[in-house]
Amino acid sequence: MSDKGQFQQGHQPEVQHQPLPGLEKNLKPRPIYDHLPTPDGGAQLYKAAGKLEGKKAIITGGDSGIGRATAILYAMEGADVFIAYLKEEQEDADETKKLVESKGRKCYLHTTDLRDRGNCKKLVDEAVKKFGGQVDILVNNAAYQMMVEDIKDLSEDQWLQTFNTNIHPYFYLAKYVLPHMKPGSTIINNASINAYIGRPDLLDYTATKGAIISFTRGLSNQYVGRGIRVNAVAPGPVWTPLIPATMTDDAMKQFTSPMGRPSQPSEIATCFVFLASPDSSSISGQTLHPNGGSIING
Ligand SMILES: NC(=O)c1ccc[n+]([C@@H]2O[C@H](COP(=O)([O-])OP(=O)(O)OC[C@H]3O[C@@H](n4cnc5c(N)ncnc54)[C@H](O)[C@@H]3O)[C@@H](O)[C@H]2O)c1
Repeated sequence: MSDKGQFQQGHQPEVQHQPLPGLEKNLKPRPIYDHLPTPDGGAQLYKAAGKLEGKKAIITGGDSGIGRATAILYAMEGADVFIAYLKEEQEDADETKKLVESKGRKCYLHTTDLRDRGNCKKLVDEAVKKFGGQVDILVNNAAYQMMVEDIKDLSEDQWLQTFNTNIHPYFYLAKYVLPHMKPGSTIINNASINAYIGRPDLLDYTATKGAIISFTRGLSNQYVGRGIRVNAVAPGPVWTPLIPATMTDDAMKQFTSPMGRPSQPSEIATCFVFLASPDSSSISGQTLHPNGGSIING
């Protein structure tokens, strides 16, 4: 099956595993980052319309998966991007940089471990420098997960690692970047469907994703009156390196949605474009649900 066949109903990626953090270059098939499905089950290149012309965006976890697709669609819409990632992901990041540059925009690369708050500060300082003082968009997207069936087997260390990766940097980065943002800027936090369905075998991850939704609402209420919008995206199953790096065989076999397939990163990245652009000018404190048709409350 060609990569684009992944939009067809019934498509299921083969069970495969990778060591953490997972590399997109080793995924079979490769995820789709700049095409969207057509009604006949085919694919067409994303159609840009200058929605982010001249904007500057920070994207954590921008080397691969949803972060990569967001970086590429942002570039297609006219934005320069600054992507942060772990050092083990250099090859993916290099490829993302080439893809962004092929769309005519700049891509700055920044290896870091966001669990350290000092690194979050350095990231913002570096991005502000590279962007000449202007930052319009923060996409908080990096995350860690590991499946554990029962709380009895979920170690205290894993609990802390998940919170240190998934929610504390969202706070640090927002705190450090906001003084540089002007009215019209946006913060977009990547959450998960799991915050709403309460996935039992990802208890720690699910808890951080719930925290992200509440963080988004509270921060929006702080800043919406100052012209800065804060929103979240809660994807369902999406074909990215996180999946073979963290999921069991059984979970991968059930990795699908009511649409009969997982989503592709491009289909989530369109939400990040919408929430960053003036098309969503009256939306703040809200969550979009690109999840393949699961009805969730919230
Ligand atoms: N893939 C899915 O099915 C799915 C579903 C719902 C939500 N999400 C969310 O999407 C976001 C992106 O994940 P993805 O699925 O695109 O996978 P991904 O593996 O491509 O991206 C995760 C990124 O997080 C970054 N990261 C992890 N730990 C880090 C650390 N300590 N310091 C710096 N960076 C770190 C890595 O750069 C990595 O690329 C995550 O927030 C994830 O929770 C994914």
